[in-house]
Amino acid sequence: RKNLEYISTGVRSLDDLLEGGVEVGSITELIGEFGAGKTQICHQLAVMVQLPKEKGGLNARALYIDTEGTFRPERIIQIARAKQLDPEKALENIIYARAYNSDHQMLLVDEAKKYIESQNIRLIIVDSLINHFRAEYPGRENLASRQQKLNRHISQLHRLASLYNLAVVVTNQVMSSPDIFFGNPMKPAGGNIMAHGCTYRIWLRKAKEGKRIARIIDSPKHAEKEVAFAITEDGVTD
Ligand code: GTP
Ligand code: MG
Repeated sequence: RKNLEYISTGVRSLDDLLEGGVEVGSITELIGEFGAGKTQICHQLAVMVQLPKEKGGLNARALYIDTEGTFRPERIIQIARAKQLDPEKALENIIYARAYNSDHQMLLVDEAKKYIESQNIRLIIVDSLINHFRAEYPGRENLASRQQKLNRHISQLHRLASLYNLAVVVTNQVMSSPDIFFGNPMKPAGGNIMAHGCTYRIWLRKAKEGKRIARIIDSPKHAEKEVAFAITEDGVTD
């Protein structure tokens, strides 16, 4: 069995939490309420993967699947500058795709097979994984078909992760109002399909004075602990 590879988050505390960073071959899920920092971490990882290995990257490119229209090139430029990368090159090294609905989202993942290797893609981001699925399959009567389709989507991503030796990072919302399907408020969306489908789940939350807290949930590999991080002009930091 070969050694696992990681993409550093660029944040010491988060790398500690993840015991190295985002793991290649796996799906890492970022969970959190609005403004928790999920999209910011995605932006940062899309830059970090480009760094040479000795700086925590994989000397590779990212595929960024944006389902909410929240990708910001200006933010990539800021983060790239902070990491001493040429901002224009950093942007070019992120292959951006906007997914307009869940079918389109799955098609984009499927089509990625054609260019992952030639484009040296080692990170796939899906931000957010679940919003189209939730919007298109509302109500109890659609729950089974939604979960089935979500399961297929997660399987697609797992296959790419292991076949092409790349990391997958997805985001997921926390349901803040009671959801009739899953009972409790403040649970990650997607139920068991998400819980079992994603290899590692990181829960992010806002804390005092603009700080953020991250915690790994349900991991057999990681110690149960919490770490703090911040979001600044330079990106996500300790
Ligand atoms: P949703 O997608 O709404 O569920 O939230 P999210 O978890 O993706 O939140 P996101 O990563 O978009 O975090 C947004 C927060 O990041 C903002 O409220 C700001 O606090 C912070 N932020 C974003 N850009 C900047 C920036 O350029 N400078 C600073 N200092 N903070 C920023
Ligand atoms: Mg977001």
